Amino acid sequence: MQRTMIKQALASTAPLDGVLVRGWVRTRRDAKGFSFLEINDGSCLANIQVIVDDQAPAHGAIKSINTGASVEVEGALTASPGKGQQWEIHVARLELVGAADQDSYPLQKKRHSDEFLRGIAHLRPRTNKYGAIFRVRSEAAFAVHQFFRDRGYFYLHSPIITGSDCEGAGAMFRVRAAVPAANRTAENQAGPGFFGKDAYLTVSGQLSAEVFASALGQVYTFGPTFRAEDSNTPRHAAEFWMIEPEVAFADLNANMDLAEAFLKGLVNHLRRHCAEDLALFARFVDPQLETTLDNLTAAPFARLPYREAVKILAEAGSAFQFPVGFGCDLQTEHERYLTEQVFKKPVMVFDYPKSIKPFYMRLNDDAETVAAMDVLVPRVGEIIGGSQREERLEVLERRLDELGLRREDYWWYLELRRYGSVPHAGFGMGFERLLMLVTGITNIRDVIPFPRTPKSLEF
Ligand code: 4AD
Ligand code: MG
Repeated sequence: MQRTMIKQALASTAPLDGVLVRGWVRTRRDAKGFSFLEINDGSCLANIQVIVDDQAPAHGAIKSINTGASVEVEGALTASPGKGQQWEIHVARLELVGAADQDSYPLQKKRHSDEFLRGIAHLRPRTNKYGAIFRVRSEAAFAVHQFFRDRGYFYLHSPIITGSDCEGAGAMFRVRAAVPAANRTAENQAGPGFFGKDAYLTVSGQLSAEVFASALGQVYTFGPTFRAEDSNTPRHAAEFWMIEPEVAFADLNANMDLAEAFLKGLVNHLRRHCAEDLALFARFVDPQLETTLDNLTAAPFARLPYREAVKILAEAGSAFQFPVGFGCDLQTEHERYLTEQVFKKPVMVFDYPKSIKPFYMRLNDDAETVAAMDVLVPRVGEIIGGSQREERLEVLERRLDELGLRREDYWWYLELRRYGSVPHAGFGMGFERLLMLVTGITNIRDVIPFPRTPKSLEF
C-alpha cells in the first residue's frame, strides 16, 4: 500500500478504505475499549487521530507506543465524530517503528520555553511551533526563486570563500586549511595559506552579482553569508542567508520599487501558501501579526530621505538610548520608532551620509550622501539594505583611496567601470529577518535550523 502524507489524508473529500500513514506519536490516551493516538508526520501542523480497538489484532503493541515514538499505521479513513477534526483512522494494522522512552523524552505535552528548545535543536522541529517555522522557511525559499524567475532574473551562485571584504566592515571569518596539531609548523600556521592569500567566508555576494548583472542584465544570489560581529542581539547571526538582486540600467528608485514589490510579493505568497502555519503564529506568538502584514501589503511603503528621518527622530522627544543627528547610524530603536510609531508600515529611508556606508554606493550630487536605501519594518527594523552603485571610475577610485582600500584588491571590480559601465543597483535582504517578519518570532535563533551565534556551535 502506498503511504499517504497526513496533510493529504486530512484534505480528503471522502472516506478511504485503506490508508497508510507514518509519523511520530504526539500523545496516546487509553480509554475503555480503545486507545487514541495523535500522530504527526511533519507534512502539516495538524495531527491525525488514530483509533486502536482493544479487540483488534493491532492492539498488541499499544502499551509500548509512547509520545515521541515512530509508528506505521494502516486502516480506514473515517469521518470523525470528535470535535476539531474531520477525519480519523480506524486501525487495522499498527507497527511500532522506533520506540521512545517515556521517562527521558524531552518533549512532554506542555509548553516549553524557546530557550529550553534551543538546547534541543535536534528535537524542536517536532513541536508545533518549530515545525511551522521550518515549513514556512522552506516555502519562503521557493517563493524567493519564483519571484525572480517570473521576472526573468538569473540565479547566481556567488562564492562562499572570498578574498575581498565587500562591506568593508571587517567583520569576517578567516578560512584556513585545518592542519592536524601534530603537523603544525610556524610556517604553515603563519604563511599565506591554501589560497596563497588571506581567505574569508563571504559577508555578501554583491560584488559577484554586480559582475553578472553587467553581463546577464538582472541576477540574484541566495546563499549563506557570514559575519563575525560579536554582537549578541536577537537580530544578528554569525551565519545567515541573504538574497541579493542586482540590476543593470537601474537607479535608486527602480531599486526601491523592486524591494517593495519583492517584500509584498513574498508576504502575499506566504499568506496564501502557509495559511495554517501563519494562523498559529497569529494565535500564539504575535497577536498583531495579521495587522502588521495587512499594513505591509495594503498601501505603498513610506519613502523618506535620511535627513528627514533624522529630523523626525530628533523632534520625537522619545527617550532613545542612542542620540540621533546627521551622520549617525540609525539604531534598531530608531528604525522601529519610524516604522511602528510614525508610519505604522514599512519605511524606506534613502540618501544616507557617505560616512556610514560602504565604498561602492553612488555618491550623490551633494557629495555628502550616497544613493543608499534601507527598508525598515515593524518589530524587525532593517530587513533590506541596498543602493545604487558607483558606476563612475574616477569617483569610485577616489572613494577607495579615501577609505584606505587598495585599488589593486578591486582591480576586476574597477574594470567593470572601465568597460561598458552602466548605472546599476541592488540590495540584500536577510532571509531570517523576513521569516521574523512573517512569523512574529522575535529571536533570529528560532528561525534558523541550527543557529550560529557567539559562543554557540552545538549541533
Ligand atoms: O545591509 P547589509 O550589510 O547589506 C549588504 O550586505 C549589501 N552588500 C547588500 C546589497 O546591496 N547587495 O545586509 C543586508 C541585509 C540586512 O538588511 C539584514 O536584513 C541582513 O542582511 N543582515 C543580517 N541578518 C542576520 N544576521 C546578521 N548578522 C545580518 N547582517 C545583515
Ligand atoms: Mg545594512
